[in-house]
Parts: sequence; structure tokens; C-alpha cells
Amino acid sequence: MIDSQQHWESVYSHKAADEVSWFQPHAASSLRLIEACTDTHAHIIDVGGGTSVLVDGLLDAGYRNLTVLDLAESALAASRQRLGARAQSVQWIAADITQADLPAARYDVWHDRAVFHFLTDPDDRARYVAQVLKSVKPGGHVIVATFGPGGPLQCSGLDVMRYAPGALHAEFGAPFRLLKHETEIHYTPAGKEQEFVYCYCVRA
Ligand SMILES: C[S@@+](CC[C@H](N)C(=O)[O-])C[C@H]1O[C@@H](n2cnc3c(N)ncnc32)[C@H](O)[C@@H]1O
Repeated sequence: MIDSQQHWESVYSHKAADEVSWFQPHAASSLRLIEACTDTHAHIIDVGGGTSVLVDGLLDAGYRNLTVLDLAESALAASRQRLGARAQSVQWIAADITQADLPAARYDVWHDRAVFHFLTDPDDRARYVAQVLKSVKPGGHVIVATFGPGGPLQCSGLDVMRYAPGALHAEFGAPFRLLKHETEIHYTPAGKEQEFVYCYCVRA
């Protein structure tokens, strides 16, 4: 069986950034949620950022303490190439989020769009939540977007979990206070609709 890293490297080697089903020309909802809870000094990590243009939008808005983490080095390389010289001010981490050695109490914002829902093993989800607890500052913000109850059962050929807002928040538990949630219909480049749920929490 091909492992997860090989899977994602293969995806990014076969498809252009604007051909993948999760492509967004602008990460509008994520940017809006982040800008609403921070100033530009905030330390922000985009977990499983892939080739997302969220980092471009954050740089445009004046944020400078940015980290993008992804399992697929090729995705990070594509983002660095897209950003050119601006990529130098971003920290890039090629790692599995369930195993990465992240600094303690570093981030003001943890952002994840369409990564947590690939964790179908409860032990991996527990490891993920432990990473959030370790690396997000007390009082920091956690924005996680997954497929909603009406979303697809698979993405990129992999099984995914689907979450209503309450169920997604329950995965994180009491140390996280749910401030709000939003449902968004994403249109894939092929024109298909996908329901996403964004949960926006504060870490105690
Ligand atoms: C569906 S894509 C979403 C990319 C990006 N967040 C966006 O919204 O455009 C999922 C991303 O998560 C990455 N990924 C999957 N499992 C991961 C893991 N365990 N740790 C880190 N990244 C992971 C993949 O390489 C891929 O770039």
C-alpha cells in the first residue's frame, strides 16, 4: 500500500495547483476569519497548506510571522516558486502534522482547511489535537475547516470524515471554546459542489 506522503507527492506531481478539487483562487473565508481575530504581528501556521494561496493573501495583508506545513515537499516547493522572493519570509515545514516536532506555545492562529478530515484513525486525531494544544498559545485561535455532513465521502481518492460543527468541536474537546461556525459551498474546478464546515475556536 502506498503511504500517505507518497500519495500526496504523486497528486502534486500529476496535477497543477489550479486543477486540484480543493483549489481556491482566493482563500477568502480563511483570510476573513484570521483578520477578524488577529493583528499582523500574529504567528500563524497553515497546517496542510499545500499550494493554497492563503499565505499570499496573508503576506499581502501585512502578516510576517507565517509558517506553512505540509506532508508534500513538492507542494511547498510550488508555493515557494509562486511567491518568489516573498517566500523567504515564510517558514516552510515538510512533515506529517501528527508527528511534527512543533515549538511549544508558538502560534496565535492554527489554520487547517481540508486536512483534519483525512484523519480517519482516532489515534491520529488525538495526536493532531495534542499538537494543537502544545503549539497554540493559551488564548490563541484555531480555525479548522472540514467537509460538512453533506460533503463528499472521499477526496483525492482517500476516505474522509465528515463533520457537523458540534461533532468537529467535540473532537477537540473542552480546552477549546467554539466561538462560531460557518458552512460554505466550495465549487471545484470541475464545477462540483462540496459542503465545508469551518469551526472557529479559542484555546483555553
Ligand atoms: C485537500 S488538500 C488542502 C490543501 C490546502 N489546505 C487548501 O485548502 O488548499 C490537503 C493537504 O493536506 C496535506 N496533508 C495530508 N495529510 C497530512 C498530514 N498528515 N500532515 C500534513 N499535511 C497533510 C496534503 O499534502 C495536502 O496538501
